[in-house]
Amino acid sequence: MNSPHVLCELIDHIAWIKINRPEKLNALNKAVITALHDQLNHIKNNDQIRAVVITGSGDKAFIAGADITEFIDLGPSEGRDLATYGEERVFSFIENFNKPVIAAINGYALGGGLELALSCHLRLASENARFGFPEVSLGIIPGYGGTQRLPQLVGKGRALELILSTKLINTETAFQWGLVNAVAPAEELLSQTADWVGQLLKQSPMAIRRAIKAVNTGYSESEKGLAIEKELFGACFQTVDFKEGVSAFLEKRKAQF
Ligand code: COA
Repeated sequence: MNSPHVLCELIDHIAWIKINRPEKLNALNKAVITALHDQLNHIKNNDQIRAVVITGSGDKAFIAGADITEFIDLGPSEGRDLATYGEERVFSFIENFNKPVIAAINGYALGGGLELALSCHLRLASENARFGFPEVSLGIIPGYGGTQRLPQLVGKGRALELILSTKLINTETAFQWGLVNAVAPAEELLSQTADWVGQLLKQSPMAIRRAIKAVNTGYSESEKGLAIEKELFGACFQTVDFKEGVSAFLEKRKAQF
């Protein structure tokens, strides 16, 4: 079931998934989204697996966002479809998963990377992690649920601060804001994550599944927000600002809006 860019190891009823594109800071391209979905779908139907941990390969990044190189030739409907494809196969899929999914954030969690962490049920971060939404500096908006799930966790004011300013925050601030549940030294991130997950494995999987469903149902009106987010994300793709923002990233220069 392993793909080169999404590795999975099963240890003591826990599936350890590693996004494995370290040379691109684990950016999420369509192939990674598809492979991650296939892996999760396999795990979902395996009763031997009781929890999932997602982390990034290398010591620099959890996931530095969606793969910007895939954006440049897309129009509005293709942009919306790309966001919808990822939302259905990975982001909402994780949020509504039948087992707890934990993000072990080992470095940059930006854009789609932060959105993936937000979709998980719990987040542990290494002290050297960095969090942010660079999208508006690219002439787009978060398209994988960030506009809905970030305010749920940190409140509207802090969510807009992060999304509109594109500033990065460190792990200490992320913890103070309630964006992450716990902090670990980088070298202890995975062992501390294993301890956390060990606590979950002592509980009833049936009750955990129902608890996740009940909590999520309280936020079900965000489905409308998610749909509007995809439309607005796609609409960005026909703008001058989008062309400038994405071209600037590819040309390794600052965008001029
Ligand atoms: N999409 C595509 N490629 C990405 C990427 C992304 N989101 N994030 C990083 N990469 C690539 C870089 O282009 C570079 O590729 P190259 O070696 O072929 O030039 C490689 O990963 C390493 O990144 P680099 O920028 O050289 O590392 P850095 O330490 O100088 O900077 C970041 C790290 C995270 C600050 C920087 O990579 C960055 O800003 N990435 C984009 C983040 C972003 O905007 N995410 C939201 C996307 S919607």
